Amino acid sequence: MSRKVLMCVFVAVFFCVAGISIAADKGPAEMTLQAEKDKAKKPKPAVFPHAKHQEFAQCADCHHSAKDGKQVPYEEGQEIGKCEDCHYKGATMPKGLDSFKGAAHKNCKDCHKQAAEEKPELAEKFAKCMPCHPKS
Ligand code: HEC
Ligand code: HEC
Ligand code: HEC
Ligand code: HEC
Repeated sequence: MSRKVLMCVFVAVFFCVAGISIAADKGPAEMTLQAEKDKAKKPKPAVFPHAKHQEFAQCADCHHSAKDGKQVPYEEGQEIGKCEDCHYKGATMPKGLDSFKGAAHKNCKDCHKQAAEEKPELAEKFAKCMPCHPKS
C-alpha cells in the first residue's frame, strides 16, 4: 500500500472512532413500552418507534429530569432515566402523572392530537388507541 492510501485509511478510521465516541446515547431504535411497577391487570404494551420520532422531534419534547420534586428541562448529554423511575403510583406527583400510563398518555397523546390537527391525513392513523396499542 502506498503511503497516501495508508494515510487515507488512518484518517477514515480516526474519524469513525471519534464519531462513535462523540455521538450521544440515543437509546433503542424500536421499543415496546410496558409498565413494570404498576402494570394494569390486563397489560397493554405500547409500540414506540423511538428512532423515527428522533427524526422530527427533539429529545426535550419527551425527556426531562427532576430536582426537589420539580421538573427540570432536558439538557444535552444528561442521564436519561425510565419514565417509571419518577412516574409511578405512590410517587409525589399530581394525579394523572403518578403512573407510566398517565405520564405517557399525556406526552404521547397531546402531541399526536396536535399533529393530527395540523396534518389531517394523520387523523385516521391516530384514531382511538392507534397507532400505539395495535390489536394483536
Ligand atoms: C399515542 C400513544 C398512545 C395512545 C393513542 C394510547 N395509549 Fe395507552 N399507553 C401508551 C403508553 C406509552 C403507555 C405506557 C405503557 C404501559 O403503561 O405499560 C400506555 C399505557 C396504557 C395502559 C396501561 C397498560 C399497562 O400494562 O399497565 C392502558 C390500560 C392503556 N394505555 C389504555 C389505552 C386505551 C384504552 C387507549 C385508547 C382509548 C390508549 N391507551 C391510547 C400509549 C398510548
Ligand atoms: C417522542 C418522544 C421521545 C423523543 C423525541 C426521544 N425519546 Fe428517548 N425515549 C422515549 C421514551 C418513551 C423512552 C422509554 C423510557 C422508558 O422505558 O421508561 C426513551 C428511552 C430513551 C433512552 C433509554 C433510557 C433507558 O434507560 O432505557 C435513551 C438513552 C434515550 N431515550 C435517548 C434519547 C435521545 C438522546 C433523544 C434525542 C436525540 C431522544 N431519546 C428522543 C421518548 C423519546
Ligand atoms: C427524574 C424524574 C423524572 C423522569 C425520569 C421523568 N419525569 Fe416526567 N416529570 C417529572 C416531574 C418532577 C414532573 C413535574 C410534576 C409536577 O407537575 O409536579 C414531570 C412532569 C411530566 C409531565 C407533565 C408536564 C409536561 O411536561 O407535560 C409529563 C407529560 C411527563 N412528565 C412525562 C414523562 C415521560 C413520558 C417520561 C419518560 C420519557 C418522563 N416524564 C420521565 C419527573 C420525571
Ligand atoms: C412531539 C410529538 C410526538 C410525541 C411526543 C410522540 N409522537 Fe408518536 N408520532 C408523532 C408524529 C408526528 C407521528 C407521525 C409520523 C408520520 O407518520 O409522519 C407519530 C407516529 C407514531 C407512531 C406510528 C409510526 C409509524 O411508523 O407509522 C407510533 C406507533 C407512535 N407515534 C407512538 C408514540 C408513542 C408511544 C409516544 C409516547 C411514548 C409518542 N408516539 C410520542 C409525534 C409524536
